[in-house]
Amino acid sequence: MSTWGNPVILSSEYVLSQYGESLAGKTIVVTGVANDSIAGELAVQISAYKPSLLILTARSESRVEPIVSKIKSKNPDVSVRFLKLDLSDLKDVRRAVSDLNDVPKIDHFVAVAGVMVPPYGKTADGVESQFGVNYLANFLLVKELLPKVRAAGPKSSIVICSSSAVRGGQINFDDVNYKDGEEYNPLAAYAQSNAARTIFAKFLGEKLKGEGIRVFSVDPGAVATGLQRHFGGEFLDQIQALRNSTEPMRDLDGRPYKMPSFTGTSEGASTLITAMIDPTIEGAQGAYLYQNTVGDDDLTSFVLNRENWTKLWELSEKLIGEPFTV
Ligand SMILES: NC(=O)c1ccc[n+]([C@@H]2O[C@H](COP(=O)([O-])OP(=O)(O)OC[C@H]3O[C@@H](n4cnc5c(N)ncnc54)[C@H](OP(=O)(O)O)[C@@H]3O)[C@@H](O)[C@H]2O)c1
Repeated sequence: MSTWGNPVILSSEYVLSQYGESLAGKTIVVTGVANDSIAGELAVQISAYKPSLLILTARSESRVEPIVSKIKSKNPDVSVRFLKLDLSDLKDVRRAVSDLNDVPKIDHFVAVAGVMVPPYGKTADGVESQFGVNYLANFLLVKELLPKVRAAGPKSSIVICSSSAVRGGQINFDDVNYKDGEEYNPLAAYAQSNAARTIFAKFLGEKLKGEGIRVFSVDPGAVATGLQRHFGGEFLDQIQALRNSTEPMRDLDGRPYKMPSFTGTSEGASTLITAMIDPTIEGAQGAYLYQNTVGDDDLTSFVLNRENWTKLWELSEKLIGEPFTV
């Protein structure tokens, strides 16, 4: 049953106390690491369970340094490696992957990096920035890293961060760029990128089911982080009005839902950890998770429509300029 809007999200500490031992000796890649980010918290939390190597990505090493210090002070035996990665440039994604040539296997790939409602911009490859950074770069990254995840074998995972914004998201297959910005609606574009993230996890999960590689998308819930940096006064007013309204928000299918309440970063990282290692959700391969459980009942008909899965996969192959055959 949905507990939407009424957070009962577990802490990372609790989820790890149940299943964390399975992380011992593992190689884990986490994107979007910074001192104030969900991925930063995730990295510190999982470091307590003796992974052999944590590969932490960011655009600049200075963003990762405070997290490395926290890990080293608490768990000095864990090896930590910085990987420079700019998701707004597919060339840089390919370069970052080549920097991992010496890493034979990846047990968990956790794609958390993202942006929300920035002013209109395009990636180096000419794609609207939220679609490009939040989704398309991960499509290429997963394609390139899949051989290493396969080398890790069953129980490895590919976890794609998404958002409750998926409930309002649809993909404008004819033009993901909003007429070169002329028709840009920042929140619709954020929702579009999250619909793409969740559809990608569903389709990839289905394709990888027989191999036992776990694939999930995750709504981490609402957490005060660097993500809100682009929230201008007008946007905050809109959010406040929605929070104060007696009318519920409605998803694309017209179903009512509430805005999630804010939690701490430990709770924000916890459903990502659930996706990585909780054995009780294995039967729901490809699912969208929130509040540490499967939330597929809350997905819209747009996201569940398999024709859209195929259309997105084909569009993504076109945009990265190569096929992704699983
Ligand atoms: N916080 C929430 O309430 C919430 C709710 C639902 C979903 N989410 C999702 O959770 C994820 C993590 O968000 P967060 O709350 O932790 O936000 P955050 O603190 O802003 O962290 C996002 C991270 O992504 C990185 N990033 C942004 N653009 C990038 C690029 N072009 N290349 C590489 N890295 C880039 C940022 O790096 P820099 O530090 O260099 O900018 C930052 O480290 C996002 O995908 C977001 O959509 C968050």
